Amino acid sequence: MVAEAQNEPHDVRWKRKCLITLLTLFIGVTSVIAMVSVDIAKPSSLTFLRKPVSCEISEWSTWSKCSQSCDIGNQQRQRYVVKEAQHGGLSCPEQDSLKLVRICNQMDCPVNCTVSDWSSWSECSQSCGNGTQERRRHIVKENQHGGLSCPENNALTEMRICTLMDCQVDCEVSDWSSWSKCSQSCDIGNQQRQRYVVKEAQHGGLSCPEQDSFEEIRICKQMDCPVNCTVSDWSSWSQCSQSCGNGTQERRRHIVKENQHGGLSCPQKSALEEIKTCKLIDCQVDCNVSGWSTWSKCSHSCDIGNQKRQRHVIKEAQHGGLSCPEEQSMKEMRTCTMMDCPMDCEMSEWSSWSTCSQSCGDGVNICNERDGFVESDVYLKEFPDTQNVPLLLAVLTPMDSQWFRSKFQTNANR
Ligand SMILES: *[C@@H]1O[C@H](CO)[C@@H](O)[C@H](O)[C@H]1NC(C)=O
Ligand SMILES: *[C@@H]1O[C@H](CO)[C@@H](O)[C@H](O)[C@H]1NC(C)=O
Ligand SMILES: *[C@@H]1O[C@H](CO)[C@@H](O)[C@H](O)[C@H]1NC(C)=O
Ligand SMILES: *[C@@H]1O[C@H](CO)[C@@H](O)[C@H](O)[C@H]1NC(C)=O
Ligand SMILES: *[C@@H]1O[C@H](CO)[C@@H](O)[C@H](O)[C@H]1NC(C)=O
Repeated sequence: MVAEAQNEPHDVRWKRKCLITLLTLFIGVTSVIAMVSVDIAKPSSLTFLRKPVSCEISEWSTWSKCSQSCDIGNQQRQRYVVKEAQHGGLSCPEQDSLKLVRICNQMDCPVNCTVSDWSSWSECSQSCGNGTQERRRHIVKENQHGGLSCPENNALTEMRICTLMDCQVDCEVSDWSSWSKCSQSCDIGNQQRQRYVVKEAQHGGLSCPEQDSFEEIRICKQMDCPVNCTVSDWSSWSQCSQSCGNGTQERRRHIVKENQHGGLSCPQKSALEEIKTCKLIDCQVDCNVSGWSTWSKCSHSCDIGNQKRQRHVIKEAQHGGLSCPEEQSMKEMRTCTMMDCPMDCEMSEWSSWSTCSQSCGDGVNICNERDGFVESDVYLKEFPDTQNVPLLLAVLTPMDSQWFRSKFQTNANR
């Protein structure tokens, strides 16, 4: 125990020294007092003697538990008076000597780690908006003998969010969008672009621009519009070129504006004029009559005959033109004198009469003839033989017919 004491802290050792000194003193004083009191208690005169009985004392009890579970405590043991001394027997020891006290030390007390109080909070790291601030504490004394250990290093600092005041936030506006498509594909149109508020102003920051400054409009032109050629209306038709008969009349139009920028091109020159035939009235056409033919051969080769000439209508009069001459003035006849005939004419007998060519009215009687005569002006036609005799059909002009009739009738009457 003493050897251990060497290693003990100074104050423990000192405490123990004090206790030992005090105990020693206490024991000394009580023994002195006990001796004095024995002297006083001794009877002054012993007149009769009885058998002295000495004081009887028990054995010491076992040591009690140490008063402290750690560091310095004390423990005691007692003994007690079993029988008081009588008749001059040995007296009992002083009360104090019935009890023994001693120092006991089971182990050193555990010492908890000692930590300082927290410091005050540091200044906020940000003058506006969320910042941080911290406070610290430090280890004053490490733990000992299994006391509570010190906190981890990071538990010696505490941090928290602090806000002195809200920061000003300026209004935030987006960039302009790209320009929209031009409203017109050619010539002048317009197009727009927009922007919008990304973030409203806060806590006195710069406020957003006026509402009408979020859209911009500008004039745009992709290309010139094509301009079609412009042509005037047709003029009215001109007067007919001919006062009668087929003529022509025309109408015109002109180019008012040439095409531009790929518009429809102008019509050809020829398509600017139109011509059509016209006729106000039909023209008068006079009758056109040919010249006279040459005179025909004389009807007789001797003596007096006749001969003819004629003309014909080339074109009839039209539309009020001079009309053609009368029918009879289209033919002329004259007598012609040949040399004298050398002899009389000798005629055959007449055949019988043919049937009349007309069943009623004026007809012509035709006879067949044996010798016949040639009449150059008569148109002769031969018919197929129906009555065993050749037939001569005379087709006569009215004038010829006259001449023939007189001739035939003369012969017939004969
Ligand atoms: C050490 O800490 C424990 C737990 O907090 C406590 O019960 C005990 O009394 C403390 N000891 C001292 C000496 O302070
Ligand atoms: C500031 O802190 C508060 C509370 O901690 C939080 O709600 C807020 O979003 C923070 N503001 C910023 C700007 O970080
Ligand atoms: C030009 O002519 C075309 C074809 O006739 C027509 O579709 C277009 O509208 C015209 N343009 C103008 C500007 O008149
Ligand atoms: C006049 O015109 C009409 C119709 O176009 C035609 O039939 C006729 O022959 C023409 N007349 C003359 C004299 O050209
Ligand atoms: C009459 O007809 C002839 C022959 O076709 C011609 O030569 C002549 O010019 C015409 N005369 C008139 C006045 O039309």
